[in-house]
Amino acid sequence: MSIENIINEIGNSKENLIPILLKIQSEKNEKYISNEEVKLISEIMDIKESKILSILSFYTAISNTKRGKYIIQVCSSVPCYVNGSVNVLNELKKELNIDINETTPDKLFTLEYTSCIGCCKVSPAIRIEDKVYGNLTSIKIKDIIDFYRKKGDKNEWININ
Ligand code: FES
Repeated sequence: MSIENIINEIGNSKENLIPILLKIQSEKNEKYISNEEVKLISEIMDIKESKILSILSFYTAISNTKRGKYIIQVCSSVPCYVNGSVNVLNELKKELNIDINETTPDKLFTLEYTSCIGCCKVSPAIRIEDKVYGNLTSIKIKDIIDFYRKKGDKNEWININ
C-alpha cells in the first residue's frame, strides 16, 4: 500500500501520525521509515520534518534506520531483569551472533531492548512482531529462533509454552 493510501485510510490528521508511522513501517521488510518517506509524510500531512524525526528518535517501536524482518525486543524492566533477562539477552546474542541494536547479516533479525511489555507474570519475556514469548529458557530461545529462521516470509505463528 502506498504512503498516501495509508494516510488516507487511517485519516490525515496530526493525532494519527504515530499509527500512520507504525503502519508504514510494518509494510516494509526493513521495518523503518526512510528520510525520503519522512519528507513525503511531512508534505502530505503538513507536519514539519523535524517533528516527525523527533518522534522517530523518541519511540523505540518506530525506527529511522533499517532493521531486520523480525525485531526481537528483550524486556529490560525490573521484573524481567530480576527473573533473568540478562541471561536471555546473552543467549540471543550468542544464537544470533549480534549485539543489542544490531541486525544479522541476512537481515532476518534485529535485537533491541524494550520496556515492560505487560507480561511480567511470564518473565523473562521477549516480543517478536506482535507475539510475546515468556518463561524463557535456553532451549525455548533456540526453538523460537529456529522457527523464525524457517518461517522466512510465511505468516504463521508458533506456540512455545
Ligand atoms: S517487566 Fe518484562 S514484561 Fe513486564
